[in-house]
Amino acid sequence: GNGAPPLGVCPAGDLDRVRADGSDQRLTTNQGVPVADNQNSLKVGLRGPTAMEDFILREKITHFDHERIPERVVHARGSAAHGYFESYQDLSDLTRAAPFAAAGKRTPVFVRFSTVAGERGSADTVRDVRGFAVKFYTDEGNWDLVGNNIPVFFIQDAMKFPDLIHSVKPEPHNGIPQAASAHDTFWDFVTLMPESTHMLMWHLSDRAIPRSYRTMQGFGVHTFRLVNAQGASVFCKFHWQPVGGTHSLVWDEAAKIIGADPDFHRRDLWEAIEAGAYPEWELGLQIFSEEQAASFPFDVLDPTKIVPEELVPVQVVGKMTLNRNPDNFFAETEQVAFCTAHIVPGIDFTNDPLLQGRIHSYLDTQISRLGGVNFHEIPINAPLAPVHNNQRDGMHRQAVHRGRVAYEPNSLGGGCPFQAGMAGFTTAFSQMPQPLEDKVRGKPELFADHYSQARLFWISQSPAEQAHIVNAYRFELSRVTVPAIRVRLLSMLANVDPILAEGVAQGLGMEVPPPMPLATDAPPPHYEPSPALSLLSR
Ligand code: HEM
Repeated sequence: GNGAPPLGVCPAGDLDRVRADGSDQRLTTNQGVPVADNQNSLKVGLRGPTAMEDFILREKITHFDHERIPERVVHARGSAAHGYFESYQDLSDLTRAAPFAAAGKRTPVFVRFSTVAGERGSADTVRDVRGFAVKFYTDEGNWDLVGNNIPVFFIQDAMKFPDLIHSVKPEPHNGIPQAASAHDTFWDFVTLMPESTHMLMWHLSDRAIPRSYRTMQGFGVHTFRLVNAQGASVFCKFHWQPVGGTHSLVWDEAAKIIGADPDFHRRDLWEAIEAGAYPEWELGLQIFSEEQAASFPFDVLDPTKIVPEELVPVQVVGKMTLNRNPDNFFAETEQVAFCTAHIVPGIDFTNDPLLQGRIHSYLDTQISRLGGVNFHEIPINAPLAPVHNNQRDGMHRQAVHRGRVAYEPNSLGGGCPFQAGMAGFTTAFSQMPQPLEDKVRGKPELFADHYSQARLFWISQSPAEQAHIVNAYRFELSRVTVPAIRVRLLSMLANVDPILAEGVAQGLGMEVPPPMPLATDAPPPHYEPSPALSLLSR
């Protein structure tokens, strides 16, 4: 309101206010005091003790001592780049989200790719899920599409996320192993959670060892809603398709690269952008109505299920291009804070119980990772859209608010913003209304079908890809030391496909045990192979 530029610094270009370049400048302390000697501390005699008063030494060492911040609790290892999203068409009949308002409209983005399990310094080409997080700096605030390179997830309910991650991380007594999955605790947990069967098929496939970040698909995973200016809503699944195609490594290559070049994916992304070979992805949407969803043989709120493309085709609606590397890894790639709660007018959540838990988790963890509640002011996180509210103070506050009023309503004026009002979907963010039901802890019935889509994935794979899956299960399970875990895994696979179960069992020198009891009496839906299915595994 005072004519100053919004505190949100434009991440796409207007970062000059915060860019620091020391070339040809005098070295100073953090207080701007010029430093004469950056080699020697202040001593009492050339061979004497160091003087307590050496504020230059003390400031330098103290800052160094605090250089590290906690790494992300998951997805600690990542690489990122700037770019833009360009809409191919005006989608305002479906959504009033600003990036889709007109054909040719460009929205700046910052994208971070990551592994999930490894620590910040771990190798890039391990077998793991990859994060694919996109921050759109839209005209109406930041929209984060915090996705993965696999369209489903291990668990159906956020309640199980800490258990899943504790099983994946190195074992707590000895810190072994760092590999994402080859250990007892992971296989113990997932074989007790048959809902993970579908995700495991993808995880043991070539999808979990991508050739490059540039050759991965990305998926929003959950079903979301698009909402138009009239308040009409449709369901939507988000897909990123790499223009250069989807490519994977084979396991022997991946394992060698872990040793030879642990930065393989980070280097590849950086060098491609430096060389002007800008990576591109097309954005595809699967749009379907609530009535269609009700007719599907699975529940669209279940994040262990895809919506097969013969039920709902993917429509391509735009393209994302990454064309600029960050200036500074820490300032941008490390400090960026993606959050599933960051949605904008025109996008809304569904009741997917995994998504609902994520809406809480990201902001909460970032308060601890980024030191307080004001990290939205860090340049990489600041929206391009103006920010005005009555939130005040907190650690590291940058904004200098004017006026005596920081509450609303007020009759004194002076710097206080006003609410947009409930005039409907055109002026501000509004939630889609939802019918209420009784509180209950439980799951809808269709969530109990754990195997049909695992089988669908298996039959969509070529013979070579199927052989890779069998070999990956053999390798992983050969490293599990508890025989009962291997038996449980084989009994899960027996529900997916007999050839798969037999192939894995043979490699382990075991017999296929009886199939794990189904969690439901209802007959599972039957899927036949069809050419359309292979689109997802392109
Ligand atoms: C990062 C929690 C499921 C994708 C994170 C972080 C947390 C978290 C705490 C670290 C954030 C930070 O420190 O900035 C959860 C919880 C989940 C869940 C509680 C389930 C209840 C998922 C799913 C996906 C996903 C299903 C994919 C659809 C990501 C990505 C990142 C991330 C891509 C890295 C973001 C970045 O690059 O900074 N998650 N997550 N997560 N999560 Fe999740």
